[in-house]
Amino acid sequence: MSSPRILVLAELKPQEMAEQLAKNYDVLRDIDAAADVEMVLTSGSVGLTAEQMAKMPNLRLIAVNGVGVDAVDLNEAKKRDIQVTTTPDVLSSAVAEMALGLAFASARRIAEGDHFIRDGKWADGGKLSLGSSVLGRRAGILGYGRIGRRLADLLRGLGLEVFYTARSRKPDTSDTYCADVISLARACDLLFVTASANADNNGLVGHETLSALGQNGIVINVARGQLVDAAALALALESNMIAGAGLDVFDDEPHVPEALMKAPNCVLTPHVGSATSDARRAMAQLVLDNLAAYVAGKPLLTPYEV
Ligand code: 8YV
Repeated sequence: MSSPRILVLAELKPQEMAEQLAKNYDVLRDIDAAADVEMVLTSGSVGLTAEQMAKMPNLRLIAVNGVGVDAVDLNEAKKRDIQVTTTPDVLSSAVAEMALGLAFASARRIAEGDHFIRDGKWADGGKLSLGSSVLGRRAGILGYGRIGRRLADLLRGLGLEVFYTARSRKPDTSDTYCADVISLARACDLLFVTASANADNNGLVGHETLSALGQNGIVINVARGQLVDAAALALALESNMIAGAGLDVFDDEPHVPEALMKAPNCVLTPHVGSATSDARRAMAQLVLDNLAAYVAGKPLLTPYEV
């Protein structure tokens, strides 16, 4: 019996998971050779456009190796009755941990200190500027979904007071609800962006939010670049309107705006929030389980309601 065909636009990691995929499926990588496929594997950042879907008239399943679906044309998927799966929960701890790491790196000037030594400034008698503490501060979470809530647990565990904003107040938490992003920014000094991106929250963290956050404020973004207005952020860092930033995601990856590259106390990482071996293995396993369920005609494990 021939193996089911699948178009793979984003590789599974670690290598043994990609090998499992290759063992059970006929893996195609060229969309122009995939007109007959029913399944596509993509990632949160690669996604799938309507134009790409149009090349696959038999497409029935889009398996996303990640939780973000902003790069998938969900309207088109819905119109064509194509199912979508994601990998919720299994990456939440890794992404939340990354957010914490960026907060510490920015507040305690860890990346800056590393450069300081390598550039010979310490040996030349220089002193790194004072940092600020993460412990004892007030954290704000923009986007109180699975990742945001996991992060809130970690922050509470470290003794921070946690505020959040979301579409509505959540009844099952001791964290403090703020009705909008400006009041959230006013209430906290570490602003964590963990919301999924959509047409309504483009540039949500802009000049007004940053000004409300204030000069001790630090912005951490592990969600999507488009949620933060990069130009406004660079300006806020440059003018000391806020104290620092830690960014794992950008508008036009892998390109990072020059202004952010130059901005003081801005720690940059290349979209690696979920990139631990354990998290990526668990994500890949969930992708494989969803594909197997689809092929067997069984219910999908983690369907995304489009
Ligand atoms: C994924 C992400 O790791 O889940 C998402 O939406 O952005 C990342 O954390 C990425 O899609 C790689 O698979």
